[in-house]
Amino acid sequence: MIAQVCIGCGKKYTVDEIVYSCKRCGELLEIEYDYDLLEAKLKKSNWQKLPLSVWRYKDFMPIRDPSKIVSLNEGGTGLHSCQRLANLLGVKHLYVKNEGENPTGSFKDRGMTVGITKAAELNVQTVICASTGNTSASLAAYAAKAGLQCIVIIPSGKIAQGKLAQAMVYGAKVVQVRGNFDQALKTVLELSERHREVYLLNSINPFRVEGQKSLAYEICDQLNRKPPDRVVVPVGNAGNISAIWKGFTEFHKLDLIKKLPKMTGIQAEGAAPIARAIKTGKNEITPINEPETIATAIRIGAPVSWKKAVRAIRESGGTAETVTDKEILEAQKMLARTEGLFVEPASASSIAGLKKLLETKEIDKNEVVVCVATGHGLKDPDIAIKISEKPLTVDAEAGFIEKLLGLSQPIPATIVSR
Ligand SMILES: Cc1ncc(COP(=O)(O)O)c(C=O)c1O
Ligand SMILES: [Zn+2]
Repeated sequence: MIAQVCIGCGKKYTVDEIVYSCKRCGELLEIEYDYDLLEAKLKKSNWQKLPLSVWRYKDFMPIRDPSKIVSLNEGGTGLHSCQRLANLLGVKHLYVKNEGENPTGSFKDRGMTVGITKAAELNVQTVICASTGNTSASLAAYAAKAGLQCIVIIPSGKIAQGKLAQAMVYGAKVVQVRGNFDQALKTVLELSERHREVYLLNSINPFRVEGQKSLAYEICDQLNRKPPDRVVVPVGNAGNISAIWKGFTEFHKLDLIKKLPKMTGIQAEGAAPIARAIKTGKNEITPINEPETIATAIRIGAPVSWKKAVRAIRESGGTAETVTDKEILEAQKMLARTEGLFVEPASASSIAGLKKLLETKEIDKNEVVVCVATGHGLKDPDIAIKISEKPLTVDAEAGFIEKLLGLSQPIPATIVSR
């Protein structure tokens, strides 16, 4: 009923085969279901009564035995109505899906709970990933929960401190390579082919993508099955935008929603091969050898899932845009200061992209828009401190503070005590 299918030539593989790309044509794989069978299964299930979380949707996941699920309580993140920010940007309805609320602070946990559950089903003992930071933090946590060994390969000096701290404290074997993420990914692909006992959990792994599609299901359910007009997603390796689109199309196939949103991908200007291909109408991307952006999570020049992402954007009638580091940092502050949502720079790129596309009128002001905020702001405290006003320092005396802040006379004690 459930198979891994090549997106290029359609060759099928069983769900028990450890295979990361098509042996015939080299393309990516995706999980395919028999949707009639799934529909019948859903009719007998109480899934709609379960609390919002990744595992509310366990019937939609390629998992054999729900009692073996490895979970840290992921998903069920807030879809925040952001009216103050919407007014500022000039759009009617804006929601932010705040993925920083996940157990390790990013959307990656949605994929890892499924990926590690699969690893446990396959009886592997060691898992590996290359990472710009969040994948390593998430994999390390879920591997710890499952009692598996975890190896993470990261670009030296190019991941945010919070993420590095997470991978280290969860007990992963952390290896820094001299090179960028694309080079790190190439090495883990090679290692996992050479050592079949080491299970690869980058987003090339189709089981991870299955977990991440739950983000779309949740948006539908949080909006009472009235999907937004548009979903804006930061894009790096392009697994997430592909996963989210898969989620929407599956709910549509199952007649749970009546329309589909336009998928809109945002990349940092110095790491934007997909946005460039979309904007110039090309069918291939031109990888960038030296990707550069302050948003280290999306500092990727050769996105592995570019084909899936381009397909998602084109099929949905969406678009893609680039944003500068300056625009990203401004958006990060704006979101924090108007809505109380502190997200990391990569996540703020969706807000920066929305702002730009509203200005160019590519997004209509009457649309209902969901921006995905992919990771928590505390992941990268250095940036937050750098872009904010420095704290003022005085002696611990009320008088000094009054003077410093320009406060008027002290409030009479009688009023204070009332
Ligand atoms: C915070 C954050 N946003 C966006 C992305 C990009 O996601 P994807 O690589 O699936 O496009 C990542 C990936 O690491 C991330 O950590
Ligand atoms: Zn193939």
